Amino acid sequence: MTTAANGAIKKVGDPASTTAGDTRTIASVKVATTGTEVFDALNLAISPFVTAGVDYGAAFAFNANTGVTTAAAATNLVLSPISAACSGCHDTNVAKEHMKSNGGTVFGTRTEALGKTEQCLVCHGPANNALFNETPPAIKTVHRWW
Ligand code: HEC
Ligand code: HEC
Repeated sequence: MTTAANGAIKKVGDPASTTAGDTRTIASVKVATTGTEVFDALNLAISPFVTAGVDYGAAFAFNANTGVTTAAAATNLVLSPISAACSGCHDTNVAKEHMKSNGGTVFGTRTEALGKTEQCLVCHGPANNALFNETPPAIKTVHRWW
């Protein structure tokens, strides 16, 4: 499971900086989708996968001094393992919906991901997948390395 978001995402009206005495607040929230957007100092830039003002819960933590482990919150946004690898390149909405409808989680909650199982290898098997060995969508067939 790859954690994509945890903690509280700031929103309009929250402090714009942590500098003591700086009372300026975040003026607007802009979504960074291309990376070429222009932001001024009081804009909040967020990724398209999170929502301003939402608290995605605590991340996994381990305190070596006390030996206390804090489990990651069920509300974290995560990617399931195979979908995380494939969606790094296959990031269209069609591709992501395909993954979600086959047991994958793409920026869903940890609860959602733990509640289903990725079925990808039934169809996208490796070279020894008898069912789809030489025809798409076997991984070997569509990502040839020879
Ligand atoms: C490093 C980038 C990368 C990753 C990671 C990746 N792919 Fe691909 N994949 C490609 C490229 C590039 C193509 C060829 C796209 C084209 O020809 O339009 C492709 C093609 C495909 C195709 C054929 C799609 C079609 O429309 O013909 C399938 C199926 C596929 N990949 C499945 C997967 C699966 C499953 C995973 C995860 C296990 C994965 N890919 C991970 C880059 C990637
Ligand atoms: C029931 C069979 C089946 C299952 C299960 C399945 N896929 Fe696919 N997948 C396909 C087929 C068929 C294609 C289209 C192949 C082509 O166009 O050549 C495809 C295409 C893809 C592509 C390329 C899509 C694109 O538009 O670039 C990716 C990535 C992918 N699958 C990932 C996954 C992942 C991740 C899972 C598991 C969460 C999964 N698939 C589960 C059959 C399946």
